This record gives sequence, structure tokens and C-alpha cells, in this order.
Amino acid sequence: MKKLILLLASLMASGSAFSQGNNYKQNYQKYEGLALTPPMGWNSWNKFACNVDENLIKQVADALVSSGMKDAGYTYINIDDCWHGERDAQGFIQPDAKRFPSGMKALADYVHAKGLKFGVYSDAGSQTCGGRPGSRGYEFQDALTYASWGVDYLKYDWCNTEGLKAEGAYKTITAALRRAGRPVVLSICEWGNDKPWTWGQSVGHLWRTTGDIYNCFDCVKDHGSWKSFGVMAILDKQEGLRQYAGPGHWNDPDMLEVGNGMPANEDRAHFTMWAMIAAPLILGNDVRKMSPQTKDILTNPEAIAVNQDRLGVQGFRHAVKDSVETWLKPLADGKWAVTFLNRSKRPQPVAFDWKAKPIVDELSKTELNAAKTTYKVRNVWTRKDVGTTKKAFAGTVPAHDVILLVLGTGESAYSKKESRVSSGQ
Ligand code: GLA
Repeated sequence: MKKLILLLASLMASGSAFSQGNNYKQNYQKYEGLALTPPMGWNSWNKFACNVDENLIKQVADALVSSGMKDAGYTYINIDDCWHGERDAQGFIQPDAKRFPSGMKALADYVHAKGLKFGVYSDAGSQTCGGRPGSRGYEFQDALTYASWGVDYLKYDWCNTEGLKAEGAYKTITAALRRAGRPVVLSICEWGNDKPWTWGQSVGHLWRTTGDIYNCFDCVKDHGSWKSFGVMAILDKQEGLRQYAGPGHWNDPDMLEVGNGMPANEDRAHFTMWAMIAAPLILGNDVRKMSPQTKDILTNPEAIAVNQDRLGVQGFRHAVKDSVETWLKPLADGKWAVTFLNRSKRPQPVAFDWKAKPIVDELSKTELNAAKTTYKVRNVWTRKDVGTTKKAFAGTVPAHDVILLVLGTGESAYSKKESRVSSGQ
């Protein structure tokens, strides 16, 4: 007995077996090497909300391939809220049997057979925002289930999370995904409440910076207990966040509303700005029935190349004059993307003397110096080479629209090679 007491005392003193606190180590680090450029894909929520079923998902997968969207780089098919049924007696989550009668593994197999990737949605709380079972208390079990289905992408929401702290809750699901062993892109969806950009880089691959997007150019929609935000309102909320983005970890200003009812000029401005700020390009429209105009916007290889540029530097607002904002994004190989965004309801003239003074981006340590280097100028939406930076740029930006230029020193500022998007997966 005396020996045992002595042994216990020495173990306690050494702090090994009996110390309180962190004796059991989980891996709270996200899977590295994923989403090296902003993720591209489709998500059901913006257009279909809770009206999801396996036929829709299969048709969307078919349409992504047949429309050329897959070739343009859109890879993920993500089912948002409301796919869930109940948990079984052992606690395993089941899909809604009426909507997904073939089961999620069969659906994931269908999506994978098309060369696409498969994503699902859950919530860190007791219930999802749509009132389906959340993952709270079931994180490791759910991660195992997702791995058994072949899930590649998890959007993890933040409704019904009373008393939880965001960083810890997201680290728990990361640890669960690590333990399950299948690499998954983790989309942190806690609306920017707890500044996920300050802790999310090692935990997830993208984090929402705001509340939900609303399908309008410049409005705020009041739903009573919560608000959603038009494209310009969301854009304004990205201020001060660009230093947190980079390959594998992106600010997420929410999914695209292109093709959901705004006129083409506003859709073009929305898509361009999401390209400029290196946002994930997650389609939110019905890709089975797109107008040619919507498809042209969403598949413009030169705009996509701006978004998918391998440097992964988020663009910045350089100047504002008479409701026209000039945005710049440094690109690989010394190129630059330049956008003139007209936020007003009237066409606005723009003039830009490239050589007036060098533009330096301290963050990426890059410089646009047209006095030293002559760049070729390419207009991304008209798909034309439009001279060089020897001459000042002059043009008119239509109302709620953009002019997007790429400056480069090669043959043309745009080379076909770069339209081959690699999403880093
Ligand atoms: C939240 C998210 C949305 C969507 C819905 C689903 O509002 O921010 O993107 O996932 O929940 O209920």
C-alpha cells in the first residue's frame, strides 16, 4: 500500500498520467493542399433553398458537364440545408428518405463518375438553420458517415449554437474530419460573427465574412430577426480583410446570385468583383436552364483566370471618384487585373493615366509601374486587346456595370494556356 501511494505521488509530481488538461491530442489542423485557388462549384441554396432531392442534384451534375461549366472549372456539387432525415437508433444521420431514396453514397458515386466532387452541409449547433438535425455532439460520427459516402466538401453552419464558441466548435469538426481520414474542404459558415479570418486559416479553407447574400445589386433585405445583403453591401463588408486570404484559406463573401434575376450588367459586375476579391465561385443558379448571357458571364475564361490566379492575392479598392471605384488585383507573372466599377445608375466616364504614378501593393510586394514597363491591355468582357499602357485609358462604364482589364507584358495580356483552370484539388 505504501509503495502504491509513493508511486501515485511520484506520478502526480511528474505531471504525466494525472495532470489535468490536455492529455488527449486531436489534430485540429485542416487538410492542407486543398483549395489552393478559390473553390469553384455549385450549391443548391440560393435558388432551391429546401427544395432539394437526388434528381435535382443528378440533373445539375449532368448540366455542369454538358454546358461546359465543368471544363470552365466548376467542380463541386454541394447540397445545402434540408437533405437530412432523422438520426437512426445508433445516432447515424440519414438523408431524407423521400427526397434521397437511393441514399447519399449512390448520389456521391453519380457525381464522382462525372468527374465532379460532392459536398454536403451541416451545422455546429443542435439543428441546422432549416431545422434539420445539426452535428452538435455527433461531430465524429457525422464525419465518419460523410467519409463513408465520399464527401469532399462540408459547409458547416452556425444556427442554434447557444453557448458554443466558434473557434472551438469548428476545430472540433476539423478534428473529426481528420479522424475520419478523408480529405474534405471545410467551409466555415458563421457569418463573420467571431472574426473567423483571425483563427480560421488553420481550421478551414474558406470562411463566410458576412450574413447571407440577397439577389439585388445594392440593397439590404430585412427579414425581421435577420438581414441579408445585396452584392454591393457585401462587397463593402470585405474592407480590411484582404490580408487574411491566400492559397488554401479564403474570405467567402457568399455564393453567387448570377443568373437569379438581376440584369446582365449587374450580374457581370457581381461576377467581376467576386473574381477581383478572390472569392470562392460557387454558382447559385439553376444551371439546367441558363440563358446564354448568364452562361457567358459564368464561363468567361479570362474573368475566371483573374479569380483563379495562382498568386491568390485578394484585390483592393485603389480609388473612388463619382461613384466609380477602381479596383486592382496583382496576378502572377507581373500581371494586374484592373476593374472600373460603376455603382451609380448613370453611365460614367473613366480615365486612367497608367504612367501618372506607380501603384505599390505593400501586402503582395508588387508594383504596377507603367512608366518603367509597358503593359499590353486586354478587355476581359469584350475579349479584345485594347492597346498598351503608353496611352491613358479612357472609356465609359455603363450603369451598375464594370470594365475589367488585364495588364500583362506577354504576347497578349491574356494567354489561352491560363484559361485552363486548376482549382488546386
Ligand atoms: C444560413 C447560411 C446560408 C444557408 C442557410 C441554410 O443562412 O448562411 O448560406 O446555408 O443557412 O438554411
